[in-house]
Amino acid sequence: MALSAAEGEMVRALWKKLGDNVGVCVAEALERTFLAFPSTRTYFAHWDLSRGSARIQAHGRKVGAALTLAVNALDALPGSLSALSDLHARALRVDPAHFQLLGHCLLVTLARHYPGDFSPAMQASLDKFLRLVTAALVSEYR
Ligand code: HEM
Repeated sequence: MALSAAEGEMVRALWKKLGDNVGVCVAEALERTFLAFPSTRTYFAHWDLSRGSARIQAHGRKVGAALTLAVNALDALPGSLSALSDLHARALRVDPAHFQLLGHCLLVTLARHYPGDFSPAMQASLDKFLRLVTAALVSEYR
């Protein structure tokens, strides 16, 4: 189900506040994902996945930029993420369950860095947003 106007507003407001920190937060979420759920490391063979690695920081910026694109296209998510869906589903063959693990770690990261903004309603809105992004990214599996 699409985000309501109020939910979309909450997500956009937090994203605005994040500004350039989006990439940093996503990089932390990636680090947490690799540590808490080691099976997610398999796609990144030969990468330096140690804490603070330049590779993870750079990837955090790329994934963060894609999420910002999604925040700015809430009404057209599948279309705006279709190339990425193709990449993750067909080329990389990422297990759909792994998207939820990254989403979970991103929520933890945002709650840690923006505790004052992280009301239950904000958590619910972000969770819904990340589920919609995941649904768009795994749509090519069908
Ligand atoms: C919120 C969910 C996700 C988003 C928005 C996202 C976004 C992206 C973006 C923007 C790229 C770079 C594409 C390019 O360079 O053209 C990428 C690459 C990649 N993603 Fe994701 N991703 C997500 C989840 C995941 C998950 C859960 C995994 C696996 C655990 C994963 C594995 C990869 C891999 C292996 C690459 C290629 C890295 C490389 O060789 O440079 N992604 N992703």
